[in-house]
Amino acid sequence: MDTKVAIITGSGSGIGRAIALKFAGAGYAVVINDVVRAAGESVLSEIQKEKGKGLFVLADVSDVSQVRSMFEEAKKSWGRVDVLVNNAGVPGAFSLIVDMPDDTWQKTISIHLNGTFYCLREAAKLMMVAGFGRIINIASIAGILGTVGSGEYGAAKAGIINLTRTAAKELGPYHITVNAIAPGMVATPTNLKLKEKGSPFIEIAEKGTPTGRMTSPEEIAELVLLISSEAAGNMNGQVIRLDGGAAIEMSMDQFMRDFLVKKSPFIKSFRGD
Ligand SMILES: NC(=O)c1ccc[n+]([C@@H]2O[C@H](COP(=O)([O-])OP(=O)(O)OC[C@H]3O[C@@H](n4cnc5c(N)ncnc54)[C@H](O)[C@@H]3O)[C@@H](O)[C@H]2O)c1
Repeated sequence: MDTKVAIITGSGSGIGRAIALKFAGAGYAVVINDVVRAAGESVLSEIQKEKGKGLFVLADVSDVSQVRSMFEEAKKSWGRVDVLVNNAGVPGAFSLIVDMPDDTWQKTISIHLNGTFYCLREAAKLMMVAGFGRIINIASIAGILGTVGSGEYGAAKAGIINLTRTAAKELGPYHITVNAIAPGMVATPTNLKLKEKGSPFIEIAEKGTPTGRMTSPEEIAELVLLISSEAAGNMNGQVIRLDGGAAIEMSMDQFMRDFLVKKSPFIKSFRGD
């Protein structure tokens, strides 16, 4: 088949859904994967309504045999895999390390880190034979900064970031690039609902972000598509923060900004204060 094929894990909702729709719109045949059948099938029908090409595969990325079957199915249906986006995930458990049960730790590590590894390994084998590939791992700024109450989530994302760099070194010679995107808070339906309810969690996150807002799932999808292009062939092993600058914010920044903005003659002049 001439059409390029992209596998997007966890694409039944949120960021993964936006990536799947973006790729289908750009002419890719898209493998939609999720553990929730209804969610995956609904994204598939959205794609088909717009005359896009799609295939839904029910698979748990933390189960190596289900991952192997998913790649087999993609290969059998379309004969190639050009892009893999490791996006499937669950949120952090909101538990201090001292309170964290073993199974919380293991579940998150298993879905995020094992899942990314299993999918990356299968994709790499197909892509090495084909001599082309783009792998994009959805990490998080939590994997760079650490985050109170999500120790297992941050550790899994940090593992994904390191795996990205190693894979980039191992696969680069085969014209396969491996990059990660580290979003800050994203305006997914779940987070938008929290915002609507006036959640202090979202308010604080937006206040601590220089651009003052969450990133949209579509903005992430746009970046994933760009990294997947032929033109991005020498971008490899990068961890791109897409967070409105949140990860460079220090606790004093907000205070200093408010203080200095109030005093600034220039800002006073253009605001007409
Ligand atoms: N939402 C944010 O603010 C944010 C910020 C940074 C990073 N991320 C990351 O982005 C990715 C997507 O998050 P989202 O906010 O869109 O979440 P979401 O819950 O809307 O979507 C995640 C999807 O993954 C699926 N999934 C869960 N476990 C799976 C498994 N084992 N196998 C296959 N599919 C599975 C879920 O059913 C769901 O449809 C995650 O990796 C998340 O950690 C999200």
